[in-house]
Amino acid sequence: MPRPQVIHQIADLRRELDVVRRQGKSIGLVPTMGALHQGHLSLVDTCREECDWTVVSIFVNPSQFGPGEDLAKYPRTLDADLDALADRGVEVAFVPAADEIYRPGHDTWVEVGAVAEPMEGRRRPGHFRGVATIVLKLFGMVGPDLAYFGQKDFQQALVIRRMVEDLDVPVEIRVCPTVREQDGLAMSSRNAHLDPEARRDALTLRQALQAATQMVEQGERDTRTIAEQMRRIIAPVEGAKIDYIALVDPETLEPVETIRGPTLAALAVNIGGTWLLDNCLLADG
Ligand code: PAF
Repeated sequence: MPRPQVIHQIADLRRELDVVRRQGKSIGLVPTMGALHQGHLSLVDTCREECDWTVVSIFVNPSQFGPGEDLAKYPRTLDADLDALADRGVEVAFVPAADEIYRPGHDTWVEVGAVAEPMEGRRRPGHFRGVATIVLKLFGMVGPDLAYFGQKDFQQALVIRRMVEDLDVPVEIRVCPTVREQDGLAMSSRNAHLDPEARRDALTLRQALQAATQMVEQGERDTRTIAEQMRRIIAPVEGAKIDYIALVDPETLEPVETIRGPTLAALAVNIGGTWLLDNCLLADG
């Protein structure tokens, strides 16, 4: 299949999509920062199933990286990304430069609320402000009917759902399941930074979540006991830094003490210098 049409300028994107919209076609958006893996491609596949026209944005958004974070070393693989999108039959790749998105004088930001505070919000101050702002800008540029996000970044999806609801943005948000490597590691562009030892150690995130699932299946309801067991699985990994192990309400992200309904187990761990996230829903009522 041919590569998608690559568009760099907002005005060109709008012109192209106006034509599509006038033909009565639905438009789906998959926002990405590139370095595409099967997780992204599963979002693309779902988008293609549900929408007539698929736009994938590829933009490493500087405003969601804090000082000292990995903006400079974030993997950039545009050629391979475009090949992967060609295989999927994507119509448009929107690949703007940073100064097309943040023009001189840019000074307006989305102020995110309570669901952006804990977990990643605490670990990465300002991160969700940057995410919400770029996603809202992309919605304004593309005007998608539907937009696709992965459950691996559960909190991100929640922040975006909240923003869309609160700011009356006319787009439907789809959150698609986490895609995993065969051994269970959640796919992430940052996995590219893991050396073989760190790659092996990274499996402890999934193992901790599996242990939590099993404990709940066996009747454990006390989240402190569950979190302690999760910590015991990861702590022996040399150099592993656990930022949080959270058992929270999946709608509000408020801590849960005793599991009585759906509960999200989420964790962020630094393995070999790379921050990894994973999560799963523990109980279904
Ligand atoms: O999940 C990501 O890759 C990014 O946070 C997103 C949603 C593309 C915004 O830059």
